[in-house]
Amino acid sequence: MLIKRRKDWEIPEIVATPEVAYFSRRRLLHGAGAVMLTTALASCDNKKPSAAASAPDPTAGLYPAKRDPAYKLDRAITPENAVTTYNNYYEFGTSKDIADDAQMLPIRPWTVSFEGMVEKPFTIGIDDLIRKMPLEERLYRHRCVEAWAMAVPWTGFALSKLIALAKPLSGATFVEMQTFMKPDVADGQNQSFYPWPYTEGLTMAEAMNELAFLATGLYGKPLAKQNGSPLRLAVPWKYGFKSIKGIVRFKFTTKRPTTYWEALGPTEYGFWANVNPDVAHPRWSQASEELIGTASERVLTKIFNGYGAQVASLYKGMNIGDALFR
Ligand code: MTE
Repeated sequence: MLIKRRKDWEIPEIVATPEVAYFSRRRLLHGAGAVMLTTALASCDNKKPSAAASAPDPTAGLYPAKRDPAYKLDRAITPENAVTTYNNYYEFGTSKDIADDAQMLPIRPWTVSFEGMVEKPFTIGIDDLIRKMPLEERLYRHRCVEAWAMAVPWTGFALSKLIALAKPLSGATFVEMQTFMKPDVADGQNQSFYPWPYTEGLTMAEAMNELAFLATGLYGKPLAKQNGSPLRLAVPWKYGFKSIKGIVRFKFTTKRPTTYWEALGPTEYGFWANVNPDVAHPRWSQASEELIGTASERVLTKIFNGYGAQVASLYKGMNIGDALFR
């Protein structure tokens, strides 16, 4: 019998039912998908990453990048081993333990497209894109709606720099982002009742905020696949589900995107998803958070995850209690 020993920093499942597990359980109970899910996830066990998925990263020499001292933490950096083994990446399964399965994903060649309201739509290879951007390291807090938190050294570049390259038209009000679709290597995507591809969005004002960051690296190295390599968003004032991984597409638009989690649970997840200790999720109080990588240390959660000075002005006039979470 396989006995899984929980690492001392892992939250017991009884305390934090992953949102994923909750929704998948509910959706599965209402559909005929249970058998399909079990079969698809089990089939993962026998697969090995292809040669393409094992190829070295051509941009590895760009790391580590210089740390930007403007982005400081009020807590210790989370141990790397915790950040790279306790993940949410539903494309590879609904548990936190998807790091091995994520190795199946080939991340070269990888292209990123710019569509919708741009001067001229175009597609660029990830290596060309990364080499065009001014890489820097930033220390950010990372807060999941499941009430756990980490402190992470991302390497990457400001989303505003990518927007400058994309040249959106002045009328665009939202940027929509999408993850790859590769059900041959990402078994979770074979579950058609999930609204694939994973989609997220920001208002243009949010996207241009100095904190909105695209990560290509982690702990002074290229980003691990389980953390969203080769390109993932990091918006530290919002709950972690806004920080979309494995991005292949940016679309500029006037229509507010319907996000993956909104489509799955519209009464529980909204577009804004700003961290707010005063607005409880139906299944998790947001008042405090457990620091992953510690011996169950809990700290009080701050409004906008402590980044109010940089972002509060984006939401002036909005009803924070209503609009920010749901
Ligand atoms: N992006 C994609 N494409 N698929 C996902 O399942 N999960 C989100 C977010 N980005 C997710 C995703 C959630 S719920 C969280 S909390 C963070 O990624 C987790 O990031 P981490 O595993 O690097 O901590």
